[in-house]
Amino acid sequence: MGSLKGRDILHGNQFTKREIETILKVAAEMEKELRTKSSLNLLKGKILATLFFEPSTRTRLSFETAMQRLGGGVISMGPVEGSSVAKGETLVDTARTVAQYADVIVIRHPRIGSAKEVADAVAVPVINAGDGAGQHPTQALLDLYTIRKELGTLKNLSIALVGDLRNGRTVHALVEILSHFDFRFYFVAPSLLRMPEEITRRMREKGCEIVETEDLAIAASKSDLLYMTRIQKERFTDLSEYERVKGSYILNQEFLGRLKKRITILHPLPRVDEIHPDVDSYSGAAYFRQVRNGVYIRMALLCMIFGKR
Ligand code: NCD
Repeated sequence: MGSLKGRDILHGNQFTKREIETILKVAAEMEKELRTKSSLNLLKGKILATLFFEPSTRTRLSFETAMQRLGGGVISMGPVEGSSVAKGETLVDTARTVAQYADVIVIRHPRIGSAKEVADAVAVPVINAGDGAGQHPTQALLDLYTIRKELGTLKNLSIALVGDLRNGRTVHALVEILSHFDFRFYFVAPSLLRMPEEITRRMREKGCEIVETEDLAIAASKSDLLYMTRIQKERFTDLSEYERVKGSYILNQEFLGRLKKRITILHPLPRVDEIHPDVDSYSGAAYFRQVRNGVYIRMALLCMIFGKR
């Protein structure tokens, strides 16, 4: 306990509160270091491999940035068509191969549980950068870091999680992480996209106060924070269902004007239409600051996995 050295990062529920606090602390150190230096030599000679079977901009590039800022190297498996996956190689065989080259593997794959399968098959630490509609724990940690930075506290806060709570892996991981702190939750989704029952039940058992609603205006009026999410089109087997729920919640300046208070807005990005660009200049719009925090959190995690913090 207490140390992430040599460990996998697979699920939002794997951390103790103390570990989460340590990660935030190390991330803040990284942020501070990067104010005066462009790179640190903590992981010189180490190699990180990114193995992405789904599109990514922020997660992959911020892991690569984090490793390079720490003085380490990066190898990256490009699109599936360019690798032996196109010849029918299994995920586990591909990962076993990559583990011969790299000291840590970051994987994103459409199947729930895929990161765990890989972690069980290889000797090097594995980081889950999104397993289908499952989990995305490093995003959740950077979200938490952002909340603390934006609001200055993790106590007595209300958060509304909005959009595709059924398929959104970022919210699945985030609520697990937030359950260690003092949050009241509004789960705002159309009935088709409600938070999986299993997660809501587990959180209630831990004592979390959760209100499930379809009404964004009411939830927003009672919240300090809005966590907007994209409707995850790629997870729908029936596209007519997607057509029915797309555009369910759209945040724009007019909506914020009616709120009559400042609210902090997060989004893991990419956005489709759920946050109108006219919100970007709003002081509480924190989603691009949130992007930057991804580098600090991922630097912290890598340092800790290699026992450097
Ligand atoms: C998210 C993801 O891939 O789960 N993006 C991210 O990692 N920042 C969110 C999304 O795709 O909607």
